[in-house]
Amino acid sequence: METLFLRACRNQPIERVPVWLMRQAGRYMAEYRELRARHSFLELCKQPDLAAEVTLHARQVLQVDAAILFADILLIVECLGLKLTFAKGDGPVISEAVRTPEAVSRLPRQIEVGELDYVYKAVSLIRQELPPEISLIGFAGAPFTVASYCVEGGSSREFLHTKRLMYCDFQAWDRLMSTLAEATAEYLKRQIEAGADSVQLFDSWAGCLSPADYRKYVKPYSTKVLQSLPADIVKIHFGRGTALLLQDMAECGADVVGVDFMTPLAWARQQVGGKALQGNLDPAVLLTDRETVRNEVEEVLRQGGGQGHVFNLGHGIVPQTPVDLVKYLVETVREQSSVSFL
Ligand code: CP3
Repeated sequence: METLFLRACRNQPIERVPVWLMRQAGRYMAEYRELRARHSFLELCKQPDLAAEVTLHARQVLQVDAAILFADILLIVECLGLKLTFAKGDGPVISEAVRTPEAVSRLPRQIEVGELDYVYKAVSLIRQELPPEISLIGFAGAPFTVASYCVEGGSSREFLHTKRLMYCDFQAWDRLMSTLAEATAEYLKRQIEAGADSVQLFDSWAGCLSPADYRKYVKPYSTKVLQSLPADIVKIHFGRGTALLLQDMAECGADVVGVDFMTPLAWARQQVGGKALQGNLDPAVLLTDRETVRNEVEEVLRQGGGQGHVFNLGHGIVPQTPVDLVKYLVETVREQSSVSFL
């Protein structure tokens, strides 16, 4: 079925602007925090019934037009034989960072993504329960963003180890990125087979690169991922701090380009050659009040221009966000965008 969300992503006629929110399931919701009191984050990801419950609950509470699979972009690194943990307050930790060409050469050349079976199970459970008019978005991290976690051993501000490997040893870089690209393509294909009707490729940290470096060190691998997916599946390509990369990101083969909150949608529109846009309300607006939310939503809708726009935030919801304001945001998008189509 062609959901409203899919039609918007394909730049087809719509009766209102669809909306979903990055990190729509998470710590800002009391029910999620309750589950997290009993299970670690990785347990939630690895038990398909729990991952499905978290996904469906957030979708239901918010009444958004798409559900996004509850999982993480870093699960795939376990298939490389790396040890992944989420330390309280510190975010993800990969214990043996892959910093040198020797470390890269010790990684398996081909990753077996069958190990991520629990993800495919969650996808099919979610699809069974989801109303047919609601889309299910699968996702993965793009090779660069996942590589950056492998090389840094966790989150980073400046990506110095990653860039050193990238600049100094292209052979090792190519091997790491090619391995990740192949595995990521296979991982997304299996999510699609399990019932995702769309996928988002998160290149959250690609914005730390110049356009020239993006084209040389990143674009070929993200292109490989997106182009090896079925043509009829909607593909969204998102990164943060990517104003100057949007044209290249669009050229990788996505139908929709995700826009961060620092980049005007009108500028983005000029970069993406007729593709749809997704974004880009600043998540900080959700820490304010109803009036501010309403004004900012109207501004994003105005700049989005109606057709070819999927309403979203410019990055994920933060944990301090009040749920009521998020519900109000979704209601406002639904009302205001249908009014603008009358
Ligand atoms: O609702 C959804 O958006 C779906 C689930 C989802 C999660 N992570 C759950 C999660 C998605 C799509 C992601 C993607 C993800 N994970 C990205 C790309 C998006 C972005 O934010 O740029 C990145 C960079 C990661 C890596 C990651 N996972 C980090 C840096 C962290 C720690 C920071 C944080 O917010 O805690 C995580 C943990 C994580 N992933 C949580 C959730 C709900 C919090 C875990 C907890 O309950 O403690």
